[in-house]
Amino acid sequence: MNIEDLKELYQEAELSLNEVVDLKTLEELKNLYLGRKGKIAEIIKEIPALPEKERPLIGKEANVIKNRIGKIIQEKQVSIQGSQSAKVKIDVTLSGNKFGSGTLHPITLTIQEITRIFKHIGFSLIDGPEIETDYFNFQALNIPQDHPARDGLATFYLSNYKYLLRSQTSPVQVRVMQKVKPPLRVLSPGKVFRPDNLDASHSFMFHQIEGLAVDKKTNFAHLKSSLEYFVKEFFGSDIKMRFRPHYFPFTEPSAEIDISCIICGGEGCSVCGRKGWLEILGAGMVHPNVFIEVGFDSEVFQGYAFGMGVERMAMLKYGIDDIRTFFNNDIRFLEQFS
Ligand code: PHE
Repeated sequence: MNIEDLKELYQEAELSLNEVVDLKTLEELKNLYLGRKGKIAEIIKEIPALPEKERPLIGKEANVIKNRIGKIIQEKQVSIQGSQSAKVKIDVTLSGNKFGSGTLHPITLTIQEITRIFKHIGFSLIDGPEIETDYFNFQALNIPQDHPARDGLATFYLSNYKYLLRSQTSPVQVRVMQKVKPPLRVLSPGKVFRPDNLDASHSFMFHQIEGLAVDKKTNFAHLKSSLEYFVKEFFGSDIKMRFRPHYFPFTEPSAEIDISCIICGGEGCSVCGRKGWLEILGAGMVHPNVFIEVGFDSEVFQGYAFGMGVERMAMLKYGIDDIRTFFNNDIRFLEQFS
């Protein structure tokens, strides 16, 4: 027995271990080399018979080889087990894992549905800023200086009253008329803000959709027929609609539009307050003062405008009784609208 024999033994072990692909053969080789009666054990047993000089050298080398073979066996075991469990994982006959894919928010879906309907009758989409000035949110819309909507309790003001969070989407009317000459027909969905306390029907942030149509002969009948078309498309053809006289500073004449209660069909119930009608929209003919502000000749042009609350539309359409559900982000609620 000498060092060369030991090196040979190691090479032999390394070669045969390299070829092993199953745990059973590996176990056999482990016994063959490292077992109690294995090749290394045999060598160690023979050491006392060697010349004294060689004993420590051979002993040390035998240990080194023993450790190296042990390490190869260990690594081999891990790799065989790994490839076995990998094979199990890609069993193509198993049904796949389901991943949640997310859904559009009901408010987004409602905006998409409303804009789809108005696009059919020639409206195009425009966007306006959420941070506005007093001029666009009030002044250009013929809202007098002492109007209660301008109060700090009705509007969120920023930077020392220089800016505000728009309390309605109507300022987009002014912005678009400053840039585009009639004929025009635009729709503008977006967020609006009012310092209201949060309850089942109020939120400090909600969405509105503004509509504006201006042309030479645009009249109240056009407003009525457009809204009637919309209401029937959105809520169903058996829904009735009525115009109630109302006041808005930027439209004259103005109206609020009701639909027959979608819960009781007009009989009267707790949702409609026994009235049989639900208010859904504000509308009217654009006030001449607004036209003057944007430089349109009010003798030549006429227009109608309307504004609706998106949350209210969604609540009525889907029978939701609390506006807060839209903002609580409860996935069980949101998932129902995909
Ligand atoms: N801006 C009005 C509101 O927030 C709605 C409206 C829009 C009324 C356009 C008339 C015309 O109540």
